Amino acid sequence: MADPATATAAHAPLTRVVLGVTGGIAAYKAAELARLFVKAGVAVDVVMTGAATRFVTPMTFQALTGRPVATDLWTSGASNAMDHIEITRGADLVVVAPASADFIARLAHGRADDLLSTLCLARECPLLVAPAMNVQMWSNAATQRNVKRIADDGIAILGPGSGDQACGETGDGRMLEAQEIFDAVVASRVPRVLAGRSVLVTAGPTFEAIDPVRGITNASSGKMGFALARAAAEAGADVTLVAGPTSLPTPAGVDRIDVVSAAEMADAVFARADRCDVFVAVAAVADYRPVQVHAHKVKKRAEPMTLALEPTVDILASVAARPNAPFCVGFAAESQDVVKLGEDKRRRKKVAMLVANRAQDALGADDNQVTILDDSGAHALPRADKLVLARRLIAEIAARLPGR
Ligand SMILES: Cc1cc2nc3c(=O)[nH]c(=O)nc-3n(C[C@H](O)[C@H](O)[C@H](O)COP(=O)(O)O)c2cc1C
Repeated sequence: MADPATATAAHAPLTRVVLGVTGGIAAYKAAELARLFVKAGVAVDVVMTGAATRFVTPMTFQALTGRPVATDLWTSGASNAMDHIEITRGADLVVVAPASADFIARLAHGRADDLLSTLCLARECPLLVAPAMNVQMWSNAATQRNVKRIADDGIAILGPGSGDQACGETGDGRMLEAQEIFDAVVASRVPRVLAGRSVLVTAGPTFEAIDPVRGITNASSGKMGFALARAAAEAGADVTLVAGPTSLPTPAGVDRIDVVSAAEMADAVFARADRCDVFVAVAAVADYRPVQVHAHKVKKRAEPMTLALEPTVDILASVAARPNAPFCVGFAAESQDVVKLGEDKRRRKKVAMLVANRAQDALGADDNQVTILDDSGAHALPRADKLVLARRLIAEIAARLPGR
C-alpha cells in the first residue's frame, strides 16, 4: 500500500528520485532521508560527491536503498557509461541534501566537474537543494549570491534552518531535518491550485474556563485542521491557521495564531475574514461557555453544583453572513444521521460546502471517512489518512472557487 505521505489523488505520485549527497557533516542525515523515501515506496538512486564519501560510506546508502550508489563520473554503474545523463532520465526529481557551499557555487556557475554536478546540469526534471553549512559560510556574500542565482535559475531551495551547529556555533545554515525535506519534496509535487489565494483555517478544540484551573473542552485533536492548513500551503495558498489548544507542530509555511476560548477564536477569525478568499472552519468550537468564570479555584462542597452556560458566537455562520464573505467550508462531526444533520447545518449556516463526518471516527484519529455536501448533493470520499483527505479536500475546494 502507498504511504499516506505521498499517496493522494490530488498530486503527482513519486516513483523514483535521485538523492545527491555532498560533503558536509549533515551527510549522515541523508541516510534518514533515503529511508523515508524507501518507506514511502519511492525508488532512490543515490549519487555522492567524493567529499560526501569521506563523511558517510556509499555502502550505507546502498544497504538502505537496495540500489547501487554512483560516485564517479568515469565509472559507469547501471548505464552504458553515460551515468551523468542516464541517472536522471525518468526520475521525478533530483534532491541534493546536504548541499555544500562548494556544490551550490558549482551549480551557480554551471560547473560539471564531477558526476553530481554534471547530472544536475544534464537533468530535465526539477532540482531541489537543502543547504547545510556553518553560519558564516551561509551568510557570506559569495554564498548568498550563489543561492540567489540558482533560485533565479528555478532551483528550489529547502531551508536552511537555524539553530545549534555541529561546529559549535549557532545561527542559519543548519540543514532541515530529513522529515522536513521529505515533506517539502512531496509538497513540490502538489499542483499549485491555490497559488495567489489566501486561506484561513481554524483547528482544534476550544477551552472555556470555569475557574483558573478548570474548563470545558472536547476531544478534537486538531489533526484534520492542521492537515488542511498544510495541504492548502502545499497548493500554494497564503495560509493562516487559528489553532485552539493543541501541541501539534505548525505546518511548514503556515502562519499560526494560538487561541484558547471560542471568543478568542472568533476575534482572530473576524479580524482576518475580510482578507481571505477561503475560510475553512474545522475547529470544534464550544457551543456553550460558563456564564461566570470564577477568579479563584472553586472549592468542592457536599451539595450538587449547577453550572450556568451561555451560547458562544457562531463563527462560521457569522463569516458566511458577511457581505463579501469568503468561500466558506464547514465541518460537521455528528454521532448519528451524519449526512442529514450535516446538510441541515450547511443550510442553516448558509455555506457552499460542508464536510460531514462521524464524531466517533473522526476525533483524535489519524484517518477519517467524510462526505462532502454541496448544492449538488452528497459525495462520499473513501476512508483515508487525514493528510491524504486534506489534499483531496483542497483540490475539491479549488475546483469550486469562483473566478478560477
Ligand atoms: C569536517 C568537515 C566538515 C565540513 N562540513 C561542511 C558543511 O557542513 N557544509 C559545507 O558546505 N562544507 C563543509 N565542509 C567543506 C566541504 O566538505 C568542502 O567544501 C568540499 O570541497 C565539498 O565538496 P562537494 O561539494 O563536492 O561535496 C566540511 C569540511 C570538513 C573537513
